[in-house]
Amino acid sequence: MSDSIKVPDVTALKEKIAAELATVRARSLTYTDIDEAVLVRQHSPLMSPLVWDLAHVGNYEELWVLREVGGITPLRPEIDDLYDAFTHTRGDRPGLPLLGPGEARSYIAGVRGRVLDVLDKIDLDDPDPLRAGGFVFGLVVQHEHQHDETMLATLQLSRQPGLVREGDLPPGRSPNLGASGEVHIPGGIFTMGAGAAPWAYDNERPAHRLYLPGYWIDRFPVSNGAYAEFVAAGGYEDPRWWTPAGWQWVETKGVRAPLFWTRDGDIWWRIRFGREEPVPQDEPVQHVSWYEADAYARWAGRRLPTEAEWEKACGGRTYPWGDADPTLDQANLGHLAARPAPIGAYPQGASPYGVEQLIGDVWEWTDSWFGPYPGFRSFPYREYSEVFFGQEYRVLRGGSWATHPSAVRSTFRNWDYPIRRQIFSGFRCARSEE
Ligand SMILES: [Fe+2]
Repeated sequence: MSDSIKVPDVTALKEKIAAELATVRARSLTYTDIDEAVLVRQHSPLMSPLVWDLAHVGNYEELWVLREVGGITPLRPEIDDLYDAFTHTRGDRPGLPLLGPGEARSYIAGVRGRVLDVLDKIDLDDPDPLRAGGFVFGLVVQHEHQHDETMLATLQLSRQPGLVREGDLPPGRSPNLGASGEVHIPGGIFTMGAGAAPWAYDNERPAHRLYLPGYWIDRFPVSNGAYAEFVAAGGYEDPRWWTPAGWQWVETKGVRAPLFWTRDGDIWWRIRFGREEPVPQDEPVQHVSWYEADAYARWAGRRLPTEAEWEKACGGRTYPWGDADPTLDQANLGHLAARPAPIGAYPQGASPYGVEQLIGDVWEWTDSWFGPYPGFRSFPYREYSEVFFGQEYRVLRGGSWATHPSAVRSTFRNWDYPIRRQIFSGFRCARSEE
């Protein structure tokens, strides 16, 4: 939606788009290069069978790039209904006559071949908002990366081994930081939302000016070590720390710790892609729900930041460190090692305020409901964001270790139900000025 901004180098942009398309497809194929039985099974009622995600990304690409922009006749109109995320819930999807793994792979490859033809011919300076700056390609690349992250969450739930990668993450430097290490952000006006970013979604727009009173925000996400103190202090047994809905969730579900944690004597263990290991004290806590994040914050005498506070802490640039794409010493993104990096691992990724690890590691729950910015206009379709607005979903920010760099930025907004924790979710705390 970059209104009539001329693309400086069309060839370079087309090459970049082709490379992004290739990268994301290689990623999807890696995650689905597993036993067919694992692909077609439903591992949790929360998640689709992996083979659904695989064909769905191709179908989405067909709808938007081939039909909407390319004007190409539908390849397989009879399957549209099966892969429309709004027609069937995740729980219903295993009962559908889905394409099998082989069929799904050849369908998405057929779509992709035609997509590259469309890319070849498209005018990226066309003022049409789907074409301008290659928005429609950004839409499908980000969409596929988001499904890849969802597939990782499914694989984690399935306890399938094999997705742990031993990439080198930088060492942490401030072990056991919890409620300490706050940064003060002075009161004032800041600009929230996406400006020129050509691939930003409708829900990040329009950029608008907003006054925020001064506040304090944690320099780092809350660590496993700090969170374990809340558990040890009886946090899950004391309704004082929970909202009524959160307390009801704890009582009904019998929740006593983050998802995938089990206790052995005094030691917490976790399961990570089928592997059991002690919970590392110095990593950001992940697999917590909004209710757990909110309760921890109250116990610690603090609160969750609003999403405006979270975004202001990034310092008003594409990423906290500036406008250049992430490097390995700035953020843990793109499934390098299948886990969050230790607290303090990314001093190079700090925002101008000195807040760290905002991007990557874990999605951070905020106190905000998912809603429209003033002047919001839905684009390219209501079902991307608008139908989710209201008091049902809480906003998460910043991406996780499983998020690809192309699918996150300071203004990026994710949303989910407050009970969800199969996602790679953590949080940091904030507090108002006295
Ligand atoms: Fe989707």
